[in-house]
Amino acid sequence: MKPRTSDDLFALAPVVPVVVLQDAATAVPLARALVAGGLPAIEVTLRTGAGLPAIERIAAEVPGAVVGAGTVTTPEQAADAAKAGAAFLVSPGCTPGLRQAMAGTGLPFLPGVATASEALSLLEAGVTAMKFFPAEAAGGRPLLKALSGPLPQARFCPTGGITPANAPDYLALPNVGCVGGTWLTPGDALASGDWARVTALAAEAAALRPSA
Ligand code: 3PG
Repeated sequence: MKPRTSDDLFALAPVVPVVVLQDAATAVPLARALVAGGLPAIEVTLRTGAGLPAIERIAAEVPGAVVGAGTVTTPEQAADAAKAGAAFLVSPGCTPGLRQAMAGTGLPFLPGVATASEALSLLEAGVTAMKFFPAEAAGGRPLLKALSGPLPQARFCPTGGITPANAPDYLALPNVGCVGGTWLTPGDALASGDWARVTALAAEAAALRPSA
């Protein structure tokens, strides 16, 4: 079930929920709700202290989930996430040190880029799958479409400002593997434990690209 490559990750689902947890105790029911809706790949961000323990719990207790670590910004976080059981890594931007650390875990990873030069640096290093962040603020669909001409080998997961309304337009681009976003896990649903709502949102998102 674990993706070996970023293309495997892209193939799992059209949408990767980006999850910001305040309390690791919600991680397991939340992951079960997302998986039940048809979204197995889940990015738990390390921007809160609950991130790493949440990854550990989901990896150990939700067999249908493919849990990854998001907001990986340091080499140490890449190593910690791998140790916690993350199946993939995502960063908002990239440096040579961070790229090497993420590659060193052996896990598929999506380093963040927002420009042609950043994408070229990664292609030069043999990395063809990237997060496009912050997608809407950095130029959105027109920018990705423009990049597909000179850089057809790069594939992106746009994240940042993606909504159910604009996701289909991103997914229609040939260089988009999947999209990411926080809209599937609204804070009030997490706080109240409204897992049925999370499953319903996930099911809508899963339907954006019918599985083969
Ligand atoms: C991320 O970390 O990838 C983004 O902050 C998610 O952006 P969104 O809240 O606009 O979906």
